[in-house]
Amino acid sequence: MKSDPNQEVSLNLETLPAHVAIIMDGNGRWAQKRLMTRVNGHEKGSQTVRSIVTLCRKLGIGTLTLYAFSTENWARPKYEVKALMMLLKKFIVSERPVLLKNDIRLNIIGQKHRLPMDVQEEVDTTLKLTQNNNKMLLNLALSYGSREEITTAMQTIARKVASKEIDPGDITEALISDHLYTRTIPDPDLIIRTSGEYRLSNFMLWQAAYSEIYISQTLWPDFSESEFIEILKNFQERDRRFGKVACST
Ligand code: FPP
Repeated sequence: MKSDPNQEVSLNLETLPAHVAIIMDGNGRWAQKRLMTRVNGHEKGSQTVRSIVTLCRKLGIGTLTLYAFSTENWARPKYEVKALMMLLKKFIVSERPVLLKNDIRLNIIGQKHRLPMDVQEEVDTTLKLTQNNNKMLLNLALSYGSREEITTAMQTIARKVASKEIDPGDITEALISDHLYTRTIPDPDLIIRTSGEYRLSNFMLWQAAYSEIYISQTLWPDFSESEFIEILKNFQERDRRFGKVACST
């Protein structure tokens, strides 16, 4: 039977990625195009964050990771770093009731200790309040850098070897994974980067070994729920072989 080329493919809720990670890029360019400040771009980007978190919860995606601030972002102009920290704090506080109502647990990956004290306090409050929620995990990457994550893990493992807690032969892929910020979280099935840049930018370099990658041309503030759904459909059409062959003939 011929399939109707005009018939829309629908999203299969049974085969959604368990973990979607997003590199939210393009806030600055979005603002620049409108003769606005970069901070205005980040503000608009925060609104997109809200809508995508809610959509993921509605769809039943188990884990959503958002790359909100990288270790390299500290080198941005002071006023921009300050504004981003303020926006993060605002988000963490204002979304608290939403996370609670929707049974969403917050988790942070990255150097939480480098965040301003007032941001850390609000983050800690939300972490504590949402710790028993289990319908979805919202994983925010804050002061996160994959190389820093791997370096810190290596230092911890080396100390364990030096103190004879473990043997060099005990160092397996699973042991390394267990020393990363993501130790309790499955690897991302799908990594989306917005704004048309084809890079991972120090994001989940270990965890991305078999992630499907989707580059969207849309700037993050314009990223819509309907585009996210189209990307999920695209993911569902992909043939994930994990280095193996499709079938044994
Ligand atoms: C990249 O755009 C984006 C960031 C460095 C920050 C992402 C932050 C947000 C979306 C808002 C706050 C986050 C939350 C979780 C509420 P860019 O500034 O590098 O854009 P450009 O490449 O166009 O300059």
